[in-house]
Amino acid sequence: MRSRVLSGMRPTGALHLGHYHGALKNWVRLQDEHDCFYFVADWHALTTHYEQREVIEKNVYEMVIDWIAAGLDPDRSTIFIQSRLPEHAELFTLLAMGTPLGWLERVPTYKDQMEKLKDRDLATYGFLGYPLLQAADILIYKATYVPVGEDQSSHVELTREVARRFNHLYGRMHGFEQRVAATLARLPKDDQRYYEKQRKAFGETGSAEVWAKGEALVRRAAAAVEGWSEADTELLLGHLRGSGRAVLVEPQALHTEVLRLPGTDGQKMSKSYGNAVLMRDEPAEVERKIRGMVTDPARVRRTDPGDPEKCPVWDLHKVYSDEATKDWAYKGCKTASIGCLECKQPVIDAIVREQKPWRERAAALVADPKKVHWIVEMGTERARTVARQTMKDVREAMGLAY
Ligand code: TRP
Ligand code: SF4
Repeated sequence: MRSRVLSGMRPTGALHLGHYHGALKNWVRLQDEHDCFYFVADWHALTTHYEQREVIEKNVYEMVIDWIAAGLDPDRSTIFIQSRLPEHAELFTLLAMGTPLGWLERVPTYKDQMEKLKDRDLATYGFLGYPLLQAADILIYKATYVPVGEDQSSHVELTREVARRFNHLYGRMHGFEQRVAATLARLPKDDQRYYEKQRKAFGETGSAEVWAKGEALVRRAAAAVEGWSEADTELLLGHLRGSGRAVLVEPQALHTEVLRLPGTDGQKMSKSYGNAVLMRDEPAEVERKIRGMVTDPARVRRTDPGDPEKCPVWDLHKVYSDEATKDWAYKGCKTASIGCLECKQPVIDAIVREQKPWRERAAALVADPKKVHWIVEMGTERARTVARQTMKDVREAMGLAY
């Protein structure tokens, strides 16, 4: 079975080249090998934009268009909108009951963002809960991999802890302890002591060697004890592992290679800095933006040699140019044999070339909004099937299946 990938993006504006190279390109690639779920995190956008409903409303379907334009294939990937699945909110609520406040207060993005976005009032309950909502998004699909930027690793780590705690608290079938005791009692006294010793040691060290000793004992019992069943083996191995049954799956973060695309002012490309080249900018707009991009400040006149290492345009060359072009730009800059506008031209051309298929696919979708809605509709229903099943398991595990 293909392992499941899940990721989401906040619909707070048109996507730019930084989104493409930092995330989307990877999402597209993952479709080939995994069962991919990608969703519009509109609730997450509300944690910071709760006062600006127009922003989110305007960007939900636009973002889906950007995704498909970039190459997400709705036949292979499940594309949906978070708020269409109240199951996420239900899991968030249930997880919230047992999640220590300190776990959320300690998430590094919490304080960082509070500092950074001082102009917004982020002292809200929702903002503190942001990473827990994200955990619910991930856990409800039992995702194995979560492709996200490095800045999100603490959220995935929290998700793992939440899953572990949930499994620890609720991953046991009814009467687990008693059944373990009854099963253990069927072993010779020495073996019982040996098993307990390995179980304790494994819980403390997690050592594979210790695990192997414990497992060997259980397997020996399986062969020797009269009337021993497969379920008895499972029970003792589960107890040895320190878990009962994994109701929720601990996911792993998949970090994209860090491609920090600079914006036109040399800082990281970001909508909030107003320095971004959008995925769907027209060629003339791309040209205008890149021609106006900052360069090595030491190159005041055309005759001054420059240093590419101090120029953000050079970082774009590293992403967009072949070896020969890079060589030409590097030497040309150092010797002042080319001007900055000349140097920028191949980058402009490469961006426009990259955008061409995006623009075409996007134009077709913009002209056919029903199709976009239909894609999201299909994705949402597919996601719902999975989310419902998980919630059924979760409610049962928590004793809520009255
Ligand atoms: N917090 C993510 C971001 O800002 C968006 C997100 C929400 C997400 N839920 C998620 C990402 C679940 C991965 C998995 O980029
Ligand atoms: Fe930057 Fe190119 Fe100008 Fe050098 S020539 S400063 S690399 S834009």
